[in-house]
Amino acid sequence: MAGEPDEEWDNHLDALQRAATQHQWMDEPRYKRLFRDIEDRISGVLGTGEYEWADRRVFDSVFDQSTLLALHKLIQGGEIETLDFPIARGKEAHVFHATTANGPAAVKIFHTTNAVFKSLSKYIDGDPRFSGLKRRHRELVNIWVRKELRNLRRCRKHGIPVPMPRANLRNVLVMDLVGNENSPAPRLKDVSVDDVEDVFEKLITYIAVLWQNATLVHSDFSEFNVLWHEGTPWIIDVGQAVVEQHPSSKEFLVRDVTRTVEWANRNGMTVDTAESVLRVIEDPAPNLEPLPGLD
Ligand SMILES: Nc1ncnc2c1ncn2[C@@H]1O[C@H](COP(=O)(O)OP(=O)(O)OP(=O)(O)O)[C@@H](O)[C@H]1O
Ligand SMILES: [Mg+2]
Repeated sequence: MAGEPDEEWDNHLDALQRAATQHQWMDEPRYKRLFRDIEDRISGVLGTGEYEWADRRVFDSVFDQSTLLALHKLIQGGEIETLDFPIARGKEAHVFHATTANGPAAVKIFHTTNAVFKSLSKYIDGDPRFSGLKRRHRELVNIWVRKELRNLRRCRKHGIPVPMPRANLRNVLVMDLVGNENSPAPRLKDVSVDDVEDVFEKLITYIAVLWQNATLVHSDFSEFNVLWHEGTPWIIDVGQAVVEQHPSSKEFLVRDVTRTVEWANRNGMTVDTAESVLRVIEDPAPNLEPLPGLD
């Protein structure tokens, strides 16, 4: 506990320093122009005038050079009209409400530098032996985003209600907004549903369909990653989903079922975990109608 304020101060200084060095590139005419091109389109998430400290920090962690370039391309390409406001700010990614020609969208921007990587990078920056590391890290993030996109497609192919992916460039993923126009749907965690049993049945069916038909395990299935929209559950956040061949797939499957059972039991049901796991593995899963949007 001792030394915590110091650490906080260090982080603060670190962030300031990063901000100062990170945005020098913005002074270059080419980038100035580029930024001016899209400034209006992303002003909803930048704040106007002087940025609040919080916004500044958001800005630094989310909108680095490579991300702005990606956004620029997506905006010029007509994939995004405007980035409007943040929906969620996580450790791995920020999710923004966006407007597109095809209606509202959710834009998930993965951080290209996570906290661990940031704390390591001060030992690495400036050491020529590791000059490729930042790039490799970024590559890894990009692969992760493509994995989420492919998993979304695979889910939809098997009839699991997940948002339709629309576009992806580097660490930016554009998908359908689950919700109405200006209001993203709440998480299952934040609503109380009338028919818990019906929702539980749906969720268990989805886990079973994923396992048996799509040979996928969501691996972070919980009321945090289920949205409640138009009276029915929607699954999100499938980046970490693994295929059956993954050495831990069964362990993850059991965990997904366990969390779902726990949610049901907290909401008045009495369901047995082992029985539910058996159901998922052994009861033949239905073939659900594919959802549109596949190439
Ligand atoms: N397509 C979408 N439509 C509406 N809201 C969304 C959508 N995608 C994400 N959200 C909102 O953003 C939040 C964060 O999204 P998500 O769960 O995908 O990322 P995350 O949990 O930050 O990811 P990670 O597990 O990498 O940290 C969700 O809880 C949800 O509220
Ligand atoms: Mg999540």
